[in-house]
Amino acid sequence: MALSNSLILLLSSCVLFFVLSVARKELALDANEDEAYHFHTLQQSSFLPSSICEPSTVGVKESASLEVVHKHGPCSKLRVKPPSTVEEILTHDQSRVDSIKAKLAINTGKKDTLGSKTTLPAKSGSTIGSGNYIVTVGLGTPKKDLSLIFDTGSDLTWTQCQPCARSCYSQQEPIFAPSTSTTYTNISCTSTYCSDLTAATGNTPGCSSSTCVYGIQYGDQSFSVGFFGKEKLTLTSKDVIDDFYFGCGQNNQGLFGGAAGLIGLGRAKLSIVSQTATKYGKVFSYCLPSRASYTGYLTFGSGGGGSNVKYTPLSTSQGTSFYGLDLLGMSAGGTKLAISSTVFQTSGMIIDSGTVITRLPPTAYSVLRQTFRAQMTKYPLTKALSILDTCYDLSNFTTIVIPKMVFFWGGNTNVEIAPQGILYPNGIQQVCLAFAPNGDDSDIGIFGNVQQKTLAVVYDVPGGKVGFAPGGCA
Ligand SMILES: *[C@@H]1O[C@H](CO)[C@@H](O)[C@H](O)[C@H]1NC(C)=O
Ligand SMILES: *[C@@H]1O[C@H](CO)[C@@H](O)[C@H](O)[C@H]1NC(C)=O
Repeated sequence: MALSNSLILLLSSCVLFFVLSVARKELALDANEDEAYHFHTLQQSSFLPSSICEPSTVGVKESASLEVVHKHGPCSKLRVKPPSTVEEILTHDQSRVDSIKAKLAINTGKKDTLGSKTTLPAKSGSTIGSGNYIVTVGLGTPKKDLSLIFDTGSDLTWTQCQPCARSCYSQQEPIFAPSTSTTYTNISCTSTYCSDLTAATGNTPGCSSSTCVYGIQYGDQSFSVGFFGKEKLTLTSKDVIDDFYFGCGQNNQGLFGGAAGLIGLGRAKLSIVSQTATKYGKVFSYCLPSRASYTGYLTFGSGGGGSNVKYTPLSTSQGTSFYGLDLLGMSAGGTKLAISSTVFQTSGMIIDSGTVITRLPPTAYSVLRQTFRAQMTKYPLTKALSILDTCYDLSNFTTIVIPKMVFFWGGNTNVEIAPQGILYPNGIQQVCLAFAPNGDDSDIGIFGNVQQKTLAVVYDVPGGKVGFAPGGCA
């Protein structure tokens, strides 16, 4: 009948409306959950620098643990700071990347397609002196504290030494004087340790009055040349290494930011990792803090990273010094980037504590850039910042929603990048996607220190693996 028909119609339309509204609610719910799961919500203040040091309380409280601070941050004791704008840091970062490519070309016999010798900037400055992290160790007897840049991309540890026969740059702490230490010894030219310098520095050692002479250069105009010696190295009061082989620099140049030298954590025989193998088993870990006003740690021996560490195999195809890893893919905001895994296989990748910005094959970077921009349309684009071409003016936003990023490493290890590893701010008016393309798809990829922030990074050389754990430090 007409009545029952219209009743049925009414009822069914009610049901339909009910179903539709439930469906809509569920959709909305999914979208919200999706956003919370695949996006970070950040406060504007998180992009602004802090001038007060707030030492981290998390981290590894073990005997062989050193505090890590950013060289230019308020936790650094170094007052001799080079005037470094964000542009200068990024220019120096490119010099470091060029010198890594040149070193790889020598170590692996790969043809250097970059022709880096002609493209290295001729201006003064330091490739390793920029955007880096330092630790303080004790050298000699009685021990003298020295702040050293820590670097997984090189092997030789060196410090400036008196009498600075040719030249020393200015550093914060007094320059180490071997003549006042009762434990310093010169290494002779016939020592096998002297010949190991070739692998550690890329240069054949010299000889002066039967003392072994090392020389190492880092790209543009930064170098250290001096006597090769051994000395007592004090990491902590309980962790003392007798007979540590190091460079005692008599001719040093570069803006190392007031640091006394460098500590080499590479894979070659003379690195601190290899020299302390019997004590720490070639295992070390570190965490780089999210902000320059926080502190991280560098720990020798196992125990760093806690139980949440996920490992990816070390690859040996990137020379004897660098730590090579296999990157398979990436995602941004829950979207797997459409990049063929052969793109990453062709380039290869290393992890480096001294490179600031992660370098990707240009084919991979362009997919990331496009995906990221599509997820950030709400925010106005602004001008490029040196090597960073995707920058936003966030001055009108109190909260900012950005896509989460995940790296897919070999060994089924997916690692989420901290929010501070996704955007690189140059003030709130220029906040940039913190990734850059290489010049060519065949150039080595580099997993840089901005992307490593807050991750506990564990290097297990005998185990042939590198691990990552979230929340290693603040
Ligand atoms: C180390 O060798 C150099 C060059 O022979 C020499 O000038 C210097 O005095 C030696 N230092 C020590 C502490 O023996
Ligand atoms: C911020 O908002 C003001 C006022 O609406 C506007 O004039 C300005 O162009 C905005 N700035 C940016 C970078 O969007």
